[in-house]
Amino acid sequence: MARIFVTGAAGFIGSTLVDRLLSEGQEVVGYDNFSTGREEFVQKALACPGYSLVRADVLDPFALTQAMRGASEVWHLSANADVRFGLSHPRKDLEQNTLATSNVLEAMRHNGIRDIFFSSTGSVYGEATVFPTPEEAPFPVQTSLYAASKLAGEALISSYCQGYGFRGLVFRFVSMLGERYSHGHVFDFVRHLLKEPGRLPVLGDGGQRKSYLYVGDCVEAMLLARKNMSEGFDVYNLGTDGYCTVMDSIGWITGLMGLCPRLEFSGGQRGWVGDNPFIFLATGKIRALGWDNALSIRQGVERTVGWLLDSRWVMGEG
Ligand SMILES: NC(=O)c1ccc[n+]([C@@H]2O[C@H](COP(=O)([O-])OP(=O)(O)OC[C@H]3O[C@@H](n4cnc5c(N)ncnc54)[C@H](O)[C@@H]3O)[C@@H](O)[C@H]2O)c1
Repeated sequence: MARIFVTGAAGFIGSTLVDRLLSEGQEVVGYDNFSTGREEFVQKALACPGYSLVRADVLDPFALTQAMRGASEVWHLSANADVRFGLSHPRKDLEQNTLATSNVLEAMRHNGIRDIFFSSTGSVYGEATVFPTPEEAPFPVQTSLYAASKLAGEALISSYCQGYGFRGLVFRFVSMLGERYSHGHVFDFVRHLLKEPGRLPVLGDGGQRKSYLYVGDCVEAMLLARKNMSEGFDVYNLGTDGYCTVMDSIGWITGLMGLCPRLEFSGGQRGWVGDNPFIFLATGKIRALGWDNALSIRQGVERTVGWLLDSRWVMGEG
């Protein structure tokens, strides 16, 4: 039977993946240092007999190699998942996203494990010129240290596939939504509105166009790609077949919260240096396997708001 090793197992997406794997009766080993992971997100999994959780750092090669012993495949989801503040700590993305991936690959090699699944990002397309952006689009310019460090992680995986006969699947995600959502614009807006219902600071001019995906749909897509995995290295974009503007999203959030705040824009097309004003990925490749998203972007945003309002502890609220 498979023994599935998951890094970032206490995070938003990792813990959702773990619960889904356990629901199929799989044996899972989670690995997390709880830097952004939450105890609340692992409680359900810890109640399952097929689950064990190792609390350690992927930057500790010895602990990682030990913990991985006996695993049959690795899902590498741990990362510094925050795109926005990369320039404030230029080594963090390199360490948490690139060196960490190198550590994961080396621990796999020492343990004779060949199959790796990697959470990358649609941000690797940088300033894309083709929309929707397909997997084979060129991406000569990187706009964030986060995306650059993820792309380097992808390149390492591809090299291990070439050099050591690994099999690697890379998933380039749009932004995720759903239960356990603990960072991103919906989180920031809801938290702010709970404190100050009358005004809402908005980064940029509100016209940024972004695509989003419900986390449950993301997990189903990844598991389907895994079922169809072949030799070597492959990449899938994961997203919905559309996008919304920040203003659309604000309308859905404030509508659900019954608020009509004054909007205060920081101005400009980008929310921050390196923000991509338009992200919309082509998803024909994953759809060709028979996958479709169950939730639209609007439904995903609304489900997220509902979960946040029911789970105020995640925003540090009572
Ligand atoms: N959430 C999104 O919208 C989104 C979009 C694109 C890509 N991704 C990628 O998906 C993956 C999961 O993202 P998420 O939103 O669940 O983020 P998250 O921050 O909720 O989860 C990351 C998890 O990794 C753990 N972790 C971080 N550094 C670690 C280390 N050095 N050692 C051990 N554990 C460590 C954290 O404690 C956390 O539990 C990340 O690789 C992220 O870059 C996420």
